[in-house]
Amino acid sequence: MRVVCLISGGGSNLQALIDWQTKGLLGDAEIVGVVSNKVDAFGLERAKKAGISVSHLSHHDYPDRLEFDQALMKVIDGYQPDLVVLAGFMRILTSEFVNHYADRLINVHPSLLPKYKGLHTHRRAIEAGDATAGATVHWVTEELDSGGIIRQVEVPIYADDSEESLKQRVLEAEHTLYPSVVRDLSLGVIPC
Ligand code: GRF
Repeated sequence: MRVVCLISGGGSNLQALIDWQTKGLLGDAEIVGVVSNKVDAFGLERAKKAGISVSHLSHHDYPDRLEFDQALMKVIDGYQPDLVVLAGFMRILTSEFVNHYADRLINVHPSLLPKYKGLHTHRRAIEAGDATAGATVHWVTEELDSGGIIRQVEVPIYADDSEESLKQRVLEAEHTLYPSVVRDLSLGVIPC
């Protein structure tokens, strides 16, 4: 299963995927390319260090969202991916993009969906007095954070948690959740 990861920033989820791959734990999946919309995304360095092909495409070089997404699709398709993994890719995607990768585009979102779609998920969970928070891997559809749920992980919220401490706990849980989903998709444990 040829996997392309899209990133915008630190890429800690990308690193988790790379680590699983290096250890031979990613099933039949292989990360064949990493694409960023930010030239200084640290995730690009992580990929280069692992010997993975990287591409960078700045949205500032395109007149509108659709033209950027079309250029992005060309770059991604150059890798002939079976699966496109959004790993902290901070862009709203056009329906053209989402439909082009229908049933092979996944995202990790830092909440127990359908709770807390969108931003500030940790703060909202704390403010609501929730006992637990978590992360969700889901298929990407046109509606934000609303595609079919593939797998979730739950973590506790402690009384003294700050937004930052909860964010770190959730992120750490994502680092096992996301690679395990990619592995299981590649092995057919989760049907594509
Ligand atoms: C994570 O919080 C993830 O849930 C969200 O974007 C963040 C990515 O972090 N979709 P990183 O770049 O993988 O460290």
